[in-house]
Amino acid sequence: MMKATAEASANIAFIKYWGRKDARLRLPYNASISMNLSGCVTTTTVEFSRDYEQDIVAEGFDKKRIITHIDRLRKLAGIQQRVHMKTKNSFPTSAGIASSASGFAALTVAAAAALGLKLSEKELTNLSRLGSGSACRSIPDGFVKWEDSFAYSLYPPEYWDLRDVLVIVKQTQKHVSSSTGHDGAATSPDFGKRLETVSGRIVRIQEALRTKNFKAFGEVTEEDCLDMHHVMQTQSPPLFYWNNTTKRIMDAVTGWRAIGLPVYFTIDAGPNVHLICEGKDEKKVMKVLQSRIWLRQRIKEIIVNKPSKGARVV
Ligand code: PMV
Repeated sequence: MMKATAEASANIAFIKYWGRKDARLRLPYNASISMNLSGCVTTTTVEFSRDYEQDIVAEGFDKKRIITHIDRLRKLAGIQQRVHMKTKNSFPTSAGIASSASGFAALTVAAAAALGLKLSEKELTNLSRLGSGSACRSIPDGFVKWEDSFAYSLYPPEYWDLRDVLVIVKQTQKHVSSSTGHDGAATSPDFGKRLETVSGRIVRIQEALRTKNFKAFGEVTEEDCLDMHHVMQTQSPPLFYWNNTTKRIMDAVTGWRAIGLPVYFTIDAGPNVHLICEGKDEKKVMKVLQSRIWLRQRIKEIIVNKPSKGARVV
């Protein structure tokens, strides 16, 4: 039977991928560094069969993009059989959390297994990148670096007990896809400056990871988030992903730090805020989040993530 199921986590980038030097191959201008998220998991099952007359993919997803990706794997395996694919997310799909990373990582691993392809982790990262760039970072375990065409694990999940307290402030899908956004990145007059400075931040974050220096880690994470959003907001057409609640939470985080709570923010292509702290401070972060009435009224959901494994067959 040519059937397999795989699980993959979404990931949060501390040093972000924004803009690609080759759009078709989804090759990034700069390296990025991320952590897999234990609370945001996609589970995907694929089955290939001679009995199927057409490809059927899960409702509500981009069928063309999924079939194009499955075709890459069918071609590698030299198999033309039709596929039936089912998928579910442990988190609300419309939450504005990038499900394309976990989605394409799980799809790549499940389809490769079902088709009997024996691929190395490096090859799997290479392939999943073609489905969605950041998906390649969801293949290896724990803390991951993506350079050029492939990604690899820097440290396993248990290396550092970090938390990503994901504060969901809006549960509608984002208006402008990240694919469209990447295409416009280089039109920002400050994109060149980002490329000049981002390699320094890669060095700094790797050093902070190596020494588990949380302050240095948090500072460079916020810096890179703000730098990416500056590029987004100054590219043509400009992209503004934050809403009022996003900005209020960013301000609040600075205030919480001032009173001694080590917590930092990072934000992707949407309004939700990822609060990064150490495991020992998780309860305190939850407490400050719940103690503010204006926040309680605006928060739709909170997902507490630990570092997690990469994509795997289940
Ligand atoms: O992989 P994509 O095309 O969804 O791009 C992800 C872009 C960001 O989430 C904004 C940054 C990142 O590195 O994850």
